[in-house]
Amino acid sequence: MAAQLIDGKAIANEIRTELTEQVAEFIENNAVVPCLAAVLVGEDPASEVYVRNKQRACERVGIEGRLHRLPADATDDDLLDIVAQLNQDNTVHGILVQLPLPKQLSETRILDAIHPLKDVDAFHPENVGLLSQGRPRYLPCTPHGVMQLLHRSGIEATGKHAVIVGRSDIVGKPMAMLLAARDSNCGPQAANATVTLCHSRSQDMASLTRQADILVAAVGIANFIQADMVKPGAAVIDVGINRTDEGLVGDVAFDPVSAVAGHITPVPGGVGPLTVTMLLHNTLTAAGLQLHSA
Ligand code: GUN
Repeated sequence: MAAQLIDGKAIANEIRTELTEQVAEFIENNAVVPCLAAVLVGEDPASEVYVRNKQRACERVGIEGRLHRLPADATDDDLLDIVAQLNQDNTVHGILVQLPLPKQLSETRILDAIHPLKDVDAFHPENVGLLSQGRPRYLPCTPHGVMQLLHRSGIEATGKHAVIVGRSDIVGKPMAMLLAARDSNCGPQAANATVTLCHSRSQDMASLTRQADILVAAVGIANFIQADMVKPGAAVIDVGINRTDEGLVGDVAFDPVSAVAGHITPVPGGVGPLTVTMLLHNTLTAAGLQLHSA
């Protein structure tokens, strides 16, 4: 393997150690414990695991984690009632409705109902708008995690060509905004990239991905990025988590691509641990922003 492995677990632990200190200082200064309330509808096994991981991660850094559960046949009104209660509750600083939701529910209606100051996923249109104008309140967790991985691995973005595969609201679109921004919370050297956003209708995608100094794969298709789609020496960030008969697999064909790339993230143990970590970061920020509005 030629590529250097980007160890997401180690980088996440480094940030969580920093956060543990910041949370302790926040509690000491303000006598307020930051609190994240997660809402889980139904019993999807993957969502159960994600939510449990988030709760545990909260506890480890000193943030209070609460869980509200609803049955799989819950209605929009059931969920909107819980969101309204959590919006009102001054002891709750962050609200996370675990996605995907059962089909009968309106994701947009529910996510839009979360108070923008408590929207630690950064999915609310107000927070998306602030990010697009270069004055973010919260950074969306997975793209922010990718920025931290690049920055803490010494991979600069300024002037580089970053190619993102996948245009989702959660990853692809905000990732493009963060990489193309003039500045970032890791400094300007971690932003200012030239960005190409590829998607299912892109023509000759391989000719685009082969231009990437930084390639971010977020399509949700196992092993989609093959070695002939990667420029030698590129930093390849795999956001995919696909459940296959062979277990968890990313969007990048790891073995062949790691023979070509300069840096690569594994799945699991790459981007995943950062997503949860940046959620903790946003919850602490949210508690700070709500200190004087309580
Ligand atoms: N399901 C998978 N990823 C996420 C995420 O980042 N936030 C929420 N709310 N649900 C998810």
